Amino acid sequence: MITSATIKMRDEEFAELADIIYKNAGITFTINKKYLLENRLTKRLNELNFTSYKDYIYFLKYDIKRRDELKILMNLVTINETYFLRERAQMDHMIKKVIPEMVSKGKRSFKIWSAACSSGEEPYSIAMLLNEEGMYGKYNIEIYATDINTEVIAIAERGVYRSVSFRGVPPSIIDKYFTKTGLDFTLKPEIKSKVKFFQANLMESFASSKIGVTDFIFCRNVLIYFDVEAKKKVVDMFYKTLNIGGHLYLGHSETLSKIDDRFKMVNFGTGIAYVK
Ligand SMILES: C[S@@+](CC[C@H](N)C(=O)[O-])C[C@H]1O[C@@H](n2cnc3c(N)ncnc32)[C@H](O)[C@@H]1O
Repeated sequence: MITSATIKMRDEEFAELADIIYKNAGITFTINKKYLLENRLTKRLNELNFTSYKDYIYFLKYDIKRRDELKILMNLVTINETYFLRERAQMDHMIKKVIPEMVSKGKRSFKIWSAACSSGEEPYSIAMLLNEEGMYGKYNIEIYATDINTEVIAIAERGVYRSVSFRGVPPSIIDKYFTKTGLDFTLKPEIKSKVKFFQANLMESFASSKIGVTDFIFCRNVLIYFDVEAKKKVVDMFYKTLNIGGHLYLGHSETLSKIDDRFKMVNFGTGIAYVK
């Protein structure tokens, strides 16, 4: 097999590329991640017949196809690690505690947004757990799921997974909701149909406009890639998008401390929710 050598990046090229990525997606790359950009972008440069990042940067800035190329760049640089029932305690908190409390006050419709859903394991997990709790027959529930990366959205819409997506998922759940063919686990239509996917960049203030006011936002393991300014911008958008009493769930290593003090922090033992 012939593999092409990695195209090396000069520090000033790294700085310009990192700036383009930051301005578009809020994702921060520090110089110690230069090798990662080199590894991920070499193939793309070869496809475009560019021999240097200087040409690629020019293309990203001035070419008529620059908007499409920015999307391809985002597909190449995002980290899409995820799996089913990840940090399940937050989903259980929403389903077993918060929704029943809202129901007791008369609410019957719920909108849930998985912002930065990667290949769909997060929103589909929520749909499965809602189904387990018998909530679909009783209430009107909508789940929206978005990500900046068009490739992971396509995987999510296909709903076909490999065993790596099922770390620690009980076999009973896998058997109930997936059909196994060879190495593929295909999500059954009854859950697949519960989630609406589309591409959205959280750094664009209109990211939430197609979703409208929402009751729950799951934005987990994304803000870690953003600097303080980008975090503030995204969280402000979440605040405006949530209903009063709406809940925001972040990844376990993420916090709103020094980012936004308008949310009330609710510690439920195995996790934290931020409430508007
Ligand atoms: C590590 S995954 C987390 C997936 C899932 N939320 C979870 O916790 O398992 C981070 C996701 O954030 C997405 N992402 C990064 N920057 C984004 C942005 N500006 N707008 C929307 N999605 C973004 C990436 O494409 C990636 O799929």
